[in-house]
Amino acid sequence: MQEKVLILDFGSQFTQLIARRIRELNIYCEIHPYNSTKFDADNFKAVILSGSPSSVNSDDAPQPDLSKIKGKKPLLGVCYGAQYLVHFYGGKVGASSTREYGRAKLTHINNHRGLFNNINEGSQVWMSHSDTILELPNHYRSIASTEDVENAAFKIEREDTFAIQFHPEVYHTTDGKQLLENFLVNIAKVEQSWTPDSFVDSTVSKLKQQLGNDKVVLGLSGGVDSTVAAVLLDRAIGKNLYCIFVNNGLLRKNEFTDVLDQYEHMGLNVKGVDASARFLKALEGISEPELKRKAIGGTFIEVFDDEAHHIEDVRWLAQGTIYPDVIESVSVNGGPSATIKSHHNVGGLPDFMKLKVVEPLRMIFKDEVRRVGKSLEIDSSLLGRHPFPGPGLGIRILGDVTAEKVRILQEVDAIFVNGLKKWNLYNDVWQAGAMLLPVNSVGVMGDERTYEKVVALRAVSSTDGMTADWVNLPYEFLQETSNKIINKVKGVNRVVYDISSKPPATIEWE
Ligand code: XMP
Repeated sequence: MQEKVLILDFGSQFTQLIARRIRELNIYCEIHPYNSTKFDADNFKAVILSGSPSSVNSDDAPQPDLSKIKGKKPLLGVCYGAQYLVHFYGGKVGASSTREYGRAKLTHINNHRGLFNNINEGSQVWMSHSDTILELPNHYRSIASTEDVENAAFKIEREDTFAIQFHPEVYHTTDGKQLLENFLVNIAKVEQSWTPDSFVDSTVSKLKQQLGNDKVVLGLSGGVDSTVAAVLLDRAIGKNLYCIFVNNGLLRKNEFTDVLDQYEHMGLNVKGVDASARFLKALEGISEPELKRKAIGGTFIEVFDDEAHHIEDVRWLAQGTIYPDVIESVSVNGGPSATIKSHHNVGGLPDFMKLKVVEPLRMIFKDEVRRVGKSLEIDSSLLGRHPFPGPGLGIRILGDVTAEKVRILQEVDAIFVNGLKKWNLYNDVWQAGAMLLPVNSVGVMGDERTYEKVVALRAVSSTDGMTADWVNLPYEFLQETSNKIINKVKGVNRVVYDISSKPPATIEWE
């Protein structure tokens, strides 16, 4: 049985980061809302209490039932988790009189039971709280301070219960990962056996058991998640996996044939369906972004449903859903709120959506999907691809979509992306693409004045697409790219580079 760690979530923006740091230690962990009834604490080897936007002194402060946990198994409280262990057990938490946001340095470390092994005084930690621990209950002992915070860390005597007011999961806490390792490996003795190889082995054998001789259908997109899901399923059930790769006509230049070739080379049972014309027809005359998205999404469902009907006796629909899509988020003032998409209108769903769902990646994060892909020996040209939106160039062509506009944007995008590869910049950029703007501007070519399209180039750095910054690409690269685009792509006479961060701008222009 895989040993696992429980992270009880009180709604902190950093909770997922705690999980990712722990997974980097090759330890398996799960996040559950503090008031969920869907898990049994007995099944976990150690527990971490997350931070929270709430104050322990507020009327609706989250109050988990720790009767199966505290004093019974190793426990680490972080920020709110630390204050909870004080406030509800006889100590005092109140508003802080000094600044407790941002960087601080540890002083007076007492390395009791090894929580601070290999962490020295002066080590930088990241604080983010407005309340602070004013008085520890009896049997609690302070084991680290900072200049402004006396009880930066404490231990409860005769229990493996520890707590810290700073955040070990954020990058700015220099030794945060070491601290988590000290707690989980040295103190809680959790095994470090969660590796990409072990995930592949256990997932393939679970899929074999779950699916038996059943047939499964999966929509491949060319992206990392669906590709890794397909290869895992292929290992488990081989030709009973039926992959469908739809060309919506809004992919990058040559993408459909190139990627289809790659899939076939990998031995996947895949069918390429070129439905470009059907998508273009559905998009005809539509300029409003949401309506465009609906037209593309609706057509995809129709095409996929038609194809799925050709597979006799198919029982399952496989999806590349990953962990951040299924983690239930905590609504601090009420019960756990399900973020999982609700399938209200089951009666009206297309047939393939009534199939049973199998999601081999539902417990892993994006960075783990890539590591699993590597362990499955999927080509790095597939694993290292920039993210690309499902509606494709449809949301990068502003205004209505026509075949001619798709052609122009495909050419521009190919020059930009191939240039990034040639200049060895592709892997320094998280996502890059071109946008076709719905305006013409005046230019001059030879002796003629032109009145042609403007394209915008966008290249961003990011970790998850939630926030992003524009990349400072070399001027020489931009110069070469702009010249090539204007010289080679008929219909474009102006190129601009987008220097907006997200927020407030988004990555796509829509
Ligand atoms: P925005 O434009 O919201 O995009 O900053 C954030 C990230 O999400 C991608 N994106 C999508 N991906 N289906 C997808 O699979 C979509 O409908 C979609 N819309 C945006 C976008 O490319 C960026 O990486």
